[in-house]
Amino acid sequence: MKVNGNDYRTVWMEGSTVCFIEQNLLPFEFRIYRSDNYLETSKAIKSMKIRGAGAIGAAAGFAMAQAFAEAPENELQEFVYRAKQSIYTTRPTARNLYYAVDRVFNKALNSIDPQREALKEAHKIAEEDALSSLRIGKFGEELIQDKSRILTHCNAGWLAFVDHGTALSPVYNAFHHGKDVFVYVDETKPRGQGAKLTAWELQQVGIPYKIIPDNAAAHLMSLGQIDFVIVGADRIAVNGDVANKIGTLSRAIAAREYNIPFYVAAPLSTFDIDCIQGSDIIIEERPQEEVLFTSGITINGKLTSVLSSAPGSSAYNPAFDITPAKFITAIITDKGIIQPDESAIRDITRQ
Ligand code: MRU
Repeated sequence: MKVNGNDYRTVWMEGSTVCFIEQNLLPFEFRIYRSDNYLETSKAIKSMKIRGAGAIGAAAGFAMAQAFAEAPENELQEFVYRAKQSIYTTRPTARNLYYAVDRVFNKALNSIDPQREALKEAHKIAEEDALSSLRIGKFGEELIQDKSRILTHCNAGWLAFVDHGTALSPVYNAFHHGKDVFVYVDETKPRGQGAKLTAWELQQVGIPYKIIPDNAAAHLMSLGQIDFVIVGADRIAVNGDVANKIGTLSRAIAAREYNIPFYVAAPLSTFDIDCIQGSDIIIEERPQEEVLFTSGITINGKLTSVLSSAPGSSAYNPAFDITPAKFITAIITDKGIIQPDESAIRDITRQ
């Protein structure tokens, strides 16, 4: 994707350094974060300097490769096993994180040259993600008519998934092929991934959009102002239930009430075939400060955080929710568009 005319990958590696766009600073500042070791990369994932299911998956794969490179020769097994467990604990909900860590770990551990193999596999995952997001874009575009008004939640663009995004990839394709598209962007409290990241991405591409308050979506649907909803996914269960950013469920219920198609876009690496139903998915609980405080820039351009709740309050902050399959019109995968049901999911994940 291009930022100010330059090509960037969501996350990449230079030598033994993991590099990515520091998302906590966007949209106010564009800076590349460089992490020299696996612990630092893990911390960056946990603190959401990099975020979004696919992006943290690719970053976690690179972190695992860093761990192989850092492991002392005489205790490689113990070191990389501990590293794997520690990367696992950074963010519990996104399937892609486990998928990438396991792939790098399993491929490298018993190979002749573990360091080289780990790095190769981590690069391969990021490369495959880029291709998957491209394919999602192609399949998903078929669903987009000219003059579509689209609602999206959170950020499921190229900041969240190497290299074109998931939910936004079809929208980018439609726009590049001359279709007139307009995007309503849920602000996505408490961290504002919609208002800060999706809005910034759409700006880079030149797609017209408006940020709407999180609680305005159903109102717009009731007025006939939304043609369809498209969101990404953090993990998809075998029965088609989808874990995604908190607030996705209420959009899906409202869309059903107003007969508006509700699409989920995700590659096969987001499907968890060991997870029978959505209620089995672990929902990450984030620090209460994310709800109690609001961050932004002052009129002097300084990034700051202010208390925006009654002093002394405590808050509960679940980061994701589960949308039951019955509210989902279809899932746009990198292998085609499927119904959110067990037989379709088993078929496509077997391919
Ligand atoms: O907590 P985040 O910002 O990592 O959550 C991101 C989302 O929920 C995205 O919508 C999701 O990862 C799908 S995009 C690959």
